Amino acid sequence: MEVSRKIIVCLLMIITMGYSITEGREPMLHRVGGGRFTWKPKVNFTNWTSNERFYKGDWLYFGFDKHIHNVLEVNKTNYEKCIDSDFINNITRGGRDVFQLLEARSYYFLCGRGFCFHGMKVEIIVEPLAVPLSPTMNNKAYSSLKINRIELVMFLVIIFLCIF
Ligand SMILES: *[C@@H]1O[C@H](CO)[C@@H](O)[C@H](O)[C@H]1NC(C)=O
Ligand SMILES: *[C@@H]1O[C@H](CO)[C@@H](O)[C@H](O)[C@H]1NC(C)=O
Ligand SMILES: *[C@@H]1O[C@H](CO)[C@@H](O)[C@H](O)[C@H]1NC(C)=O
Ligand SMILES: *[C@@H]1O[C@H](CO)[C@@H](O)[C@H](O)[C@H]1NC(C)=O
Repeated sequence: MEVSRKIIVCLLMIITMGYSITEGREPMLHRVGGGRFTWKPKVNFTNWTSNERFYKGDWLYFGFDKHIHNVLEVNKTNYEKCIDSDFINNITRGGRDVFQLLEARSYYFLCGRGFCFHGMKVEIIVEPLAVPLSPTMNNKAYSSLKINRIELVMFLVIIFLCIF
């Protein structure tokens, strides 16, 4: 009786710790295009996004010349056709602008004034925070999941205490 109760308590602790590790990931700031000033033409944004993973709560940073470029959130149709009227959100402020990805969905951004046609458009696919620990999970997801070292140590200590 005493042993099985101990096992249950330990299991609950492990589950709680595991949960706080995935939920406790700090929001990341992603510099769109990969640099401080890379919201501009001739940047391969598809290539950039293919090397990034975006999670709910993360931030985007757009660095650009506000006298020439802007940042507008649009819907999928307008993104594909480079239509800058009927935008959802105008993100343009001073040219060093941030935007928080609050929902797990696809976001579409483009630069108006014709620059969208020169490749200034980006689709951001935002994933939910809790990453399922399944065999299908790839290495990229794992490496971008920043596990706090202290939490990891605590996790191991709990497992150790539970075993002995
Ligand atoms: C794609 O991205 C990688 C890593 O960010 C970079 O090294 C490479 O030069 C990029 N390729 C193109 C075609 O932009
Ligand atoms: C952009 O990068 C992607 C992925 O690396 C590549 O498939 C594509 O051909 C590149 N596009 C241009 C215009 O270079
Ligand atoms: C995007 O907005 C345009 C204009 O408001 C509308 O015609 C179109 O159906 C919308 N597309 C989607 C996918 O919501
Ligand atoms: C977006 O907002 C900026 C700053 O408030 C403003 O200067 C600009 O005209 C707006 N752009 C559009 C397309 O409404």
